[in-house]
Amino acid sequence: QTGTVTFDPGFMNTAATTSAITYIDGDAGILRYRGYPIEQLAKHSSFLETSYLLIYGNLPTPAELDSFDQRIRRHTLLHEDLKGFFGGFPRDAHPMPVLSSAVSALSTFYQDSLDPFDEEQVELSTVRLMAKLPVIAAYAHKKSIGQPMLYPDNSMNLVENFMRLSFGLPAEPYELDPKLVKALDLLLILHADHEQNCSTSTVRLVGSSNANMFASISAGISALFGPLHGGANEAVLNMLRDIQSTGMAPEDFMEKVKNKEDGVKLMGFGHRVYKNYDPRAKIVKATAHEILADLGGNDELLDIAMRLEEKALADDYFIERKLYPNVDFYTGLIYKAMGFPEKMFTVLFAIGRLPGWIAQWREMMQDPQTKIGRPRQLYTGLPERNYPER
Ligand code: SDX
Repeated sequence: QTGTVTFDPGFMNTAATTSAITYIDGDAGILRYRGYPIEQLAKHSSFLETSYLLIYGNLPTPAELDSFDQRIRRHTLLHEDLKGFFGGFPRDAHPMPVLSSAVSALSTFYQDSLDPFDEEQVELSTVRLMAKLPVIAAYAHKKSIGQPMLYPDNSMNLVENFMRLSFGLPAEPYELDPKLVKALDLLLILHADHEQNCSTSTVRLVGSSNANMFASISAGISALFGPLHGGANEAVLNMLRDIQSTGMAPEDFMEKVKNKEDGVKLMGFGHRVYKNYDPRAKIVKATAHEILADLGGNDELLDIAMRLEEKALADDYFIERKLYPNVDFYTGLIYKAMGFPEKMFTVLFAIGRLPGWIAQWREMMQDPQTKIGRPRQLYTGLPERNYPER
């Protein structure tokens, strides 16, 4: 009968693939991109340089980085018909489905870079995605607030251009705020890859059918949208605001979580792999105060977050379950202080994760034995039975 099948839990933890891109030690709270500790990259690198590292395997020389930067700048323009695409969405459309739809549509506009086994075409789709996804993200934001979409300015790099397209207006020149650009650049580095998480596994699974890069990454964007994954940064802010608006003491909210009332969770806490503090959360927390002070963020929500964290880290319920803050716990507060609406938080996660998705898709295409392809299953249904005589 069903339910009687038992199997070694280890079966569920069997490795699905091998990869040389990112290393995580969940118990020790270690994260390295191509061998470099995330703490060092956060301190010394840029999002563009870290993207190059993930995709090509080594840190670029200054000339290689400049060439990568210039190639991306020259591909920021969207096909004019793709710009028209945004008109078809309702005004209140969430930008994540807009992003995944538009990225999938790239394969209809750029049919000269779809072959996953042609090196030049893979390179072209790599640069096109790095250049155009942030533009699509900014346009999805502009669409949701009913403002016009600017053309990219190729005198700016990827992050600067994204900020200008998100906040600039045709009626006046846009003044880049170096503090904003620096803060966003750091957050994008922290999100750039994370080995076989849900959305990256989706990109690899879809790509394992030899689907093109645009289609595979569009599927990854949809997986990231889930509130247990990339959607958690938006859910954290909603949770903090609910606590603030009800005037509930963080301690009382924690009791609700521990009693699992209405399935409520402490969003931004817990992780499939980290059973220790997420090293990215540590870096974000350390800079959150400084960034929010610079940007004039909502200190009350930050105070609630700090109190929730302090309580959880001292509470047996969380300690026994090895629940620590993850990367999503503080990032939403910073994105909000930058001026982004909650609906854009997971889109920002997608911009950061893009180089990781591209790197993992390219690795799989180059090494067929790492294709997840078709996960095996253990059948737990009913034994054979015959159709009833009638
Ligand atoms: C990301 O995989 C990646 O690398 C993802 C990511 C990336 O960079 O790609 O790191 C990004 O997705 C971070 C996670 C963001 N999600 C959230 O913050 C949502 C809240 N977190 C939970 O949904 C949960 O922690 C998960 C899904 C993230 C991880 O779940 P686990 O480790 O598989 O744990 P579980 O669901 O098996 O729960 C174990 C126990 C359960 O209690 P009991 O049934 O044993 O009594 O812990 C409890 C859970 O109820 N629990 C929580 C909790 N997370 C787990 N209780 C309260 N609050 C939480 N957040």
